[in-house]
Amino acid sequence: MVGFHFKNNRWYSDGVALSKIAEKVGTPCYVYSLPAFEAKYKEVDQAYRPVPHLVAYSIKTNDNLSVIRALLKLGSGIDVVSGGELFKARKAGAPPDKIVFAGVGKSDDEIAYALKEGIRYFNVESIPEVEAINGVAQKMRKTAPIAVRFNPDVDPKTHHFITTGKKETKFGVYLGDVDKVMKVVRHCRSVHWTGVHAHVGSQMIQTASVGRAAKIVEKLVLQLRREGFPIHTINLGGGYGIDYHGENPPKPSQYARLVVPIIKRLNATLILEPGRYISGNSGVLLTRLLYVKQSGTKTFYIVDSGMGELIRPALYEAYHQIAPLEGPQKAVQKVDVVGPICESTDFFAKGRKLPLMKRGDLMVIFSAGAYGSVMGSTYNSRPLPPEMVVRGNKFSVARSRQTWQDLVRLEKIFD
Ligand SMILES: Cc1ncc(COP(=O)(O)O)c(C=O)c1O
Repeated sequence: MVGFHFKNNRWYSDGVALSKIAEKVGTPCYVYSLPAFEAKYKEVDQAYRPVPHLVAYSIKTNDNLSVIRALLKLGSGIDVVSGGELFKARKAGAPPDKIVFAGVGKSDDEIAYALKEGIRYFNVESIPEVEAINGVAQKMRKTAPIAVRFNPDVDPKTHHFITTGKKETKFGVYLGDVDKVMKVVRHCRSVHWTGVHAHVGSQMIQTASVGRAAKIVEKLVLQLRREGFPIHTINLGGGYGIDYHGENPPKPSQYARLVVPIIKRLNATLILEPGRYISGNSGVLLTRLLYVKQSGTKTFYIVDSGMGELIRPALYEAYHQIAPLEGPQKAVQKVDVVGPICESTDFFAKGRKLPLMKRGDLMVIFSAGAYGSVMGSTYNSRPLPPEMVVRGNKFSVARSRQTWQDLVRLEKIFD
């Protein structure tokens, strides 16, 4: 069985009991089911089979090299948003022509590095960025392929902190500026405009926003083609939601039903940048209960992991399912599950009904495969935990636990 499942009174990843991993490497630790990543990738890929397409996995959600390598082997492309991510993608073996580079603030060094590597194209997010890329490319005597990311002003109906497609956010070029973009690109001889990009937000649990954005993009592409720009790539970003807590999100095939006819009409190539859909439910975080603290009528489960490993609850009050790693799963009492970090935002759940647990018990925090480790920090000088990968009955360390020595490796004492 692929992914995470409960049998014989304990939680498993594929064929490996999670307790076995916790015993081997300690807690906290992330566990990734590689077959789960692959299954999700394949779902997206197959949904878009009727049109030429590239699923460029968004490594901002989980950039572990073993994860990237597993997806590359299936033919995945990669969506990066920094020079560091580009470096990691290349390190994992990503072919440059399958890498797309987004982000509102690319530095000249990052642009030069991407041009040197020969990436597929830049997702450009502003007019000054078109000019900057043109300048760097000119100096390097290269032509930079670009797709312009427009802000379609579509509401993804998700948390406001992960809304990107509304006009008040920093992402993409304002739709009303299309004439200005055309004018600038006509003057920029070292950029080649081949694509249009639109990504409206993350953790969408309805398809209508994608349909609306795709229609806006279609109109735009037809206008640009009439003006002489050879736009043949449409990038509709990522954003497909997952089930954290019974959201019942749409399947990729339901989005595809809205998008495929448009891509066919335009006779274009489609690029997609799903992240969370592939990685979110393909990973968990294991933690150990340090103390059960009774404080008046309140019960706290204080665990050995915190916002340094999974900041989503602190950042967006996100819900993550939590369960004892083994034993009875029946929830009987309301508790706050909190970490050891000196911040009141350091919590995983508040007022959550959970089974009775005791000091030393292990817990699983689900849906930690996306925006978990990548957002990790060593705040309170807590070393980053290991990332473990599972396939079938085997598991392996994909990233080792940081040591206290690692925490001071780059420092010099100025005395
Ligand atoms: C341009 C772009 N592409 C892809 C993604 C990945 O989104 P998700 O993880 O929701 O699929 C994001 C995230 O916000 C994004 O901004």
